[in-house]
Amino acid sequence: MHKSRSLKTEILLRLAIPLIFFMSIETVLSYFVTLHHVNVAYDRWLLDSARSLTEGIKVRDGNIWVELPPAALDIFKWDELDKTYFKIISEEKGMLAGDKFVPEPLAQKMNGLSPLYFNDEMYNEPVRVVSILITHHETPEKIFVHVAETLNKRRGMMIDILLADLVPQLVLMLLVGVYLLAGVKRGLQPLHVLADEIAQRTPRDLRPIPEQHVFLEVRALTDTINDLLDRLAQAIVTQERFITNAAHQLRTPLAGLKLQAERALREQDVTAMKPALVQIQGCADRMSHLTTQLLILARSEPINGGYELRQLDLCTLAKKTCMDWVPKALQRQMDLSFEGFEQPLYVQGDDVLLRELLANLLDNAICYGREHGNIVVKVERYPVPILIVEDDGPGIPKLEMDRIFERFYRIPGSSGDGCGLGLAIVKEIADLHQARLELNRVSDTGGTRFGLFFERS
Ligand SMILES: Nc1ncnc2c1ncn2[C@@H]1O[C@H](COP(=O)(O)OP(=O)(O)O)[C@@H](O)[C@H]1O
Ligand SMILES: [Mg+2]
Repeated sequence: MHKSRSLKTEILLRLAIPLIFFMSIETVLSYFVTLHHVNVAYDRWLLDSARSLTEGIKVRDGNIWVELPPAALDIFKWDELDKTYFKIISEEKGMLAGDKFVPEPLAQKMNGLSPLYFNDEMYNEPVRVVSILITHHETPEKIFVHVAETLNKRRGMMIDILLADLVPQLVLMLLVGVYLLAGVKRGLQPLHVLADEIAQRTPRDLRPIPEQHVFLEVRALTDTINDLLDRLAQAIVTQERFITNAAHQLRTPLAGLKLQAERALREQDVTAMKPALVQIQGCADRMSHLTTQLLILARSEPINGGYELRQLDLCTLAKKTCMDWVPKALQRQMDLSFEGFEQPLYVQGDDVLLRELLANLLDNAICYGREHGNIVVKVERYPVPILIVEDDGPGIPKLEMDRIFERFYRIPGSSGDGCGLGLAIVKEIADLHQARLELNRVSDTGGTRFGLFFERS
């Protein structure tokens, strides 16, 4: 058996994989967007602190020095989370105040008046630096203020924003997952109910599956199963009828056999036994015929599939079967002839079953036809391959024409020791070949004509 995949897992996987994928992309994107906004916010503060330092830069008579008011220096102390460093340098005099390790941008980048922000490292710690260029009206010299700040506040804010974004998403995903799982479980529940219902049935319970359990999607399946159940029920009915009929038919000759055997046993000498023995022989013949017929019928039941349709030549088959029946026809002084062609006429059929069909028709024609009469077997090509068996006997009354195909039906008062299965078999075999069986009266003689039309071949 193939290992079946669970529908639940399948649905969840199909939802979870794209969900996780889109969530990852969204997280990466929102990381960069957040980073940008956090930087914009904190960079403004950083610039403010750099600007506040510029107020302490004094220039007189070409001398530049720095006098930082305590308020300005407080900015660099108050912050508990981050360390802030600064450096003020002049182009010519160099370092004016601050920490000399504050990183500087490459000189060529600092050519405008707008502040320049960049990331760097200081004391082995990553820092964000702002550099501004100051010009003083009393000196042409360029003065640079660099302020560096460690990144703890920025990181803290990043984490806060990302968490605020990510946590609800994760919770949402979890809720969706749980909800879906419950939904799928609830959705599949009717299938389990259905399986339980079918499992609890007895093998004889072939009622159709009720439709109230069923989803539209599963409907096609249950419809097919119901169809199968229906056909199965029909096949069982047919088989049961067959078995009952067969049992009944076999019991009668068996009872006869027993009776005659008892009769024979009561006699003392062989001559007196003879009539009973003859009866026994007749009974045994009938039983053997009946058994063969029953077996053929069982074989031709569509449910047993004991047949195989192959391409075969109808002419050869008919001719050979006729030859087998000539001696029997001669016993009743009947003339059995065959009209066919030399070239083969192919049809799709089962050799054994078609021979049996023709044998049954010939047996009837010989049995119920006129003594010294004629029986003709014909094979025709047009419009479809046709097999015809014709006799010049008394024919079959119109009223009986339908009933004679029923199993075990014989026209009351029929001669011979048939059991009424012959034409039922003929009909069954014709159906298997999807061939049309036609029964007519021969117009000039009033005899019987059976025609088998191979419409599918
Ligand atoms: N060629 C025929 N001519 C006249 N009657 C026929 C012919 N073939 C069949 N019948 C009638 O049809 C009945 C059913 O035939 P069949 O099914 O072969 O059963 P069985 O031959 O065992 O009686 C026969 O009892 C017979 O009365
Ligand atoms: Mg018969």
